[in-house]
Amino acid sequence: VGQNLIKLKEVDSTNNYLKNLASNSEPLPEGTVIMADNQFAGRGQQESVWQTEPGKNISTSIYLKSSFLPISKQFYLNMAVSLAVSDALSFFLPSPVAVKWPNDIYYNRKKLGGILIENALTGSIIKSSVVGIGLNINQQAFGNDLSRKATSVYQILNKELDLNLILEKIFVYMEKYYLILKSERYAILHSDYLNRLLYFDIATSFIQNGQVFEGRIKGVEDSGHLIMEVDGNIRHFNFKEIEYIH
Ligand code: BTN
Repeated sequence: VGQNLIKLKEVDSTNNYLKNLASNSEPLPEGTVIMADNQFAGRGQQESVWQTEPGKNISTSIYLKSSFLPISKQFYLNMAVSLAVSDALSFFLPSPVAVKWPNDIYYNRKKLGGILIENALTGSIIKSSVVGIGLNINQQAFGNDLSRKATSVYQILNKELDLNLILEKIFVYMEKYYLILKSERYAILHSDYLNRLLYFDIATSFIQNGQVFEGRIKGVEDSGHLIMEVDGNIRHFNFKEIEYIH
């Protein structure tokens, strides 16, 4: 990962750029990375926008030939990437980084970054994946509504870090967890993922359709759906169904 590294000053979205590159200039080497100083149309989960201060943060996308991955196991790629990114950042921070379901990167209950994985399919078979990673690194402050929810490595350490150093660590851990995925050691990914899941087995408030309820996260299905205990019953939640209350 990162042997073929393309650095751009500005792009709409590194995910878009890499997807276009993969469809126009096949075969693209696996592990090709796009890294941009600025994205003017960065995309987040569930059609949200991802904004970042130019030159300060990590906006990167990695190309993987994930055709070995059965579609029923595609959430394991999310787990592998969440583990890689959280391990890489934990290396630089005083305490371990957490993962918020499904794949947000959290520290001190604030969001440090997010992951957007887009799979190219042929029928119902995965052909390749573009793994987009956005991390708040040297940004010092966030806009009003974000400042309560977002944090950065700068806010934690009170100093700037070299983005390339962090990227290198991400590549190292991506290789580690991608190899675990490729060798189908799913149980390791599953238990490592649950081990660093924010609010795992802790009574937490969630909102569904405007209704607040308390639940305990008990696990995650292979599909990625969240398994929760609510009022003594086990319930399953889809990605868009619930929100956390902070
Ligand atoms: C989220 O938390 O909603 C996911 C954010 C993902 C942002 C990254 S930045 C690099 C890549 N390119 C994009 O357009 N999005 C991802």
